Amino acid sequence: MSSVLSRILPPPAYITMPSVGVDISDTSLKYIAFEPTVREGIDRKLKLWGDISIPNGILQRGQLDKPEQLVIVLKEFKSITKAEFVTVSLPEERAYLFETTIKRDVPLKEIRSLLEFKLEENVPIPSKDVIFDYVIIPGDSETRTMQIAVAAYGKETVLKYYDACKEAGLRPISFEVEAQAMARSVISNDISGAVMLVDFGKTRTGIGIVYKGILLYTSTIDIGGDQLSQSLRSILGSDVAESSLTKIKNTEGLMRGVDSSDVHDALLSVVSIIKDELITRMQYWHLRNGNSEERRITSIMMCGGSANMKGLPAYLTETIGVPCVRGNVWENTFSLDNNVPPIDKWHSFGYATAIGLALKKFV
Ligand SMILES: Nc1ncnc2c1ncn2[C@@H]1O[C@H](COP(=O)(O)OP(=O)(O)OP(=O)(O)O)[C@@H](O)[C@H]1O
Ligand SMILES: [Mg+2]
Repeated sequence: MSSVLSRILPPPAYITMPSVGVDISDTSLKYIAFEPTVREGIDRKLKLWGDISIPNGILQRGQLDKPEQLVIVLKEFKSITKAEFVTVSLPEERAYLFETTIKRDVPLKEIRSLLEFKLEENVPIPSKDVIFDYVIIPGDSETRTMQIAVAAYGKETVLKYYDACKEAGLRPISFEVEAQAMARSVISNDISGAVMLVDFGKTRTGIGIVYKGILLYTSTIDIGGDQLSQSLRSILGSDVAESSLTKIKNTEGLMRGVDSSDVHDALLSVVSIIKDELITRMQYWHLRNGNSEERRITSIMMCGGSANMKGLPAYLTETIGVPCVRGNVWENTFSLDNNVPPIDKWHSFGYATAIGLALKKFV
């Protein structure tokens, strides 16, 4: 895979440079970096991690409205971490993903130009203004065709992020759709079928469908932890501190209390909307793939800070009928048997994307 998205600065010198994974969302910048190690994956150690909040209005649904203010946040990040090379997430709200088929005997170097012709019918912006990446979906080499997954962005979207990084003195070596990065950190290699990734954050919930480790579908629901808080405030009073609400979400959550089920009902009114959306997306996916057994969604994996809500995986498992679990964000980083990560479990769910970015290799 070689393209502007995956390798903005391709010279080999950069490839060996350790980079910091930077997950930029509407409300926060999270970063992760590992110590360089000789024995990859065996003694991987966290070097840097952190969360810097992004003031409202700078980014909206992944659209960078005030680049100069993102530069301020990125400069703060740079001064804390002294980072130079970064791998940055791009918002799935702005991504165009599609799948296409090409003949297996097409030489590798011709794939890109073939795909350029396919952009027009799949991406609603003029092809000359598009930056894209592709990956061949591993399949049966006996067949005469191969499946290609394409991720595209408007050039303008990518350049805005790129320029903001440069302006802050950082060198972006690669960009990636956030759910693809998340897949790298939480999905183990031996999983069969497709996985639905759910990133339940603060202001939104990202949905990704991943097959053979490749992100093939994304979509976003504009509901997150903030809506849960709002719903709780409507029954508990508007002056309850956010930290108390977080505690209520995570200790009572969707469990029905003995004397009152108000909290349960308030949270459920929000969560049930998400549940319905997940079902719709799942049905769409199955239909789009002709109900293929191979591509059936076999599990739902949750990340994002709001995934901490008590009783959430059980509720989704029961109502959707597909096993839903909280992802282990360290799944592909190190074994938890002999490592105690410095980020506690509750905070770790928000780091899934940043971890995946930090794990990315550029060979
Ligand atoms: N123990 C916890 N630690 C951190 N956040 C928590 C915890 N429990 C619940 N949350 C909620 O998770 C949300 C933050 O999640 P996350 O860090 O994934 O969001 P984000 O990436 O900043 O936001 P978004 O992706 O919506 O732009 C907040 O609404 C917060 O209240
Ligand atoms: Mg997030």
